[in-house]
Amino acid sequence: MTKYQSTKEVESFDFSAEDGTVHFVDSSLGMHKLENPNEELSVSLHLYSPPYLECRSGRHSKPSVVPYVYCQSPNNNKAPLLEGCLHDHSLKLKHCPGHVFCNFHTTVELLSQEFKSGACARTISKMLQSLQFNPREWISYVRFDKKHYTRFIIARTTKFSLMLTCWEAGQSSPIHDHNGARTWIKVLEGELHETQYKLATIAGAESLEISQENELTDETIAYRDGTVIHKNESASETVISLHVYSPPYSECHCYEMDGKSRLVQTSTIISE
Ligand SMILES: [Fe+2]
Repeated sequence: MTKYQSTKEVESFDFSAEDGTVHFVDSSLGMHKLENPNEELSVSLHLYSPPYLECRSGRHSKPSVVPYVYCQSPNNNKAPLLEGCLHDHSLKLKHCPGHVFCNFHTTVELLSQEFKSGACARTISKMLQSLQFNPREWISYVRFDKKHYTRFIIARTTKFSLMLTCWEAGQSSPIHDHNGARTWIKVLEGELHETQYKLATIAGAESLEISQENELTDETIAYRDGTVIHKNESASETVISLHVYSPPYSECHCYEMDGKSRLVQTSTIISE
C-alpha cells in the first residue's frame, strides 16, 4: 500500500500472506493505492465498515467519484477475471474486457440510482457491459426445468426488475412483447438466438414478419425499446442470462404468426 498526501507519496508498505496477520486501517486513511508488486497473482479479502458504494479516485487531474468495485488493469482491456464452470463449481481465470467486479446487491443499488434519475438507455447498457459477476453468486439462483426455461426475480422496484433466466438446449420463449417496458439483456453463460418480428398488413390481413435475427453472447448487451416483439431461444447446451425491465411488467402479449395476440400474466409464459 502506498499512502499519499496532496499526490505526494508519504508512506509505503507491503502486506503478504506469509505475515499471517490481519491489517486494520482506521477511518482516517486518506488517499492511497494498492498494487500487486509481484509477477504472481495475488488475492486478498477486505472487510469495510460501514459499507460504501463509491469512493474518490485521483487517477485523473480532477478527482472523480467512482463505484468502489471499479478495477482497471494497467493494460486496460486485459483484466484477469474469475470464470466459473456451471457444473463442477470450479473457478478459473479468464481474460475479458470488463472492468467492474460486482455482485447483484450492488448492481441493484447502482440500477436504483440510475433509474431514479431517468436512466438513459446507453448508460444502463454501458453499466451492464462493464459489470462482471462471480458465477459463485449467480449459480445460487440457477434453476433448470426440463419443460421450459425458468425466470428468477432478483429484484423488483417501482422502476425496474432484475431477472435471471436459465435455458436448457432447445428451450424457447413464445413470441411476445414487453407491454411497453424497455429491456436490457446480458448473457452470463452460453448463447441466445433472438428473432424479432413486426406486424405487417398484407391484402388487408395482419400477420407477423421476421424483421431481425440476433445472436446474444456474453460479449454483447442487447437493448430493446418498449415496442419489441420477439422470441428468444437457447443456442447452446445451457444459457444463463440477466434481464433488466423498466418499468417492471407482470403481463404482456403473446403472438401467433397470424398476428393475433392475447394478454397473459408473465408467470404463465414459462409454463407454455
Ligand atoms: Fe422478451
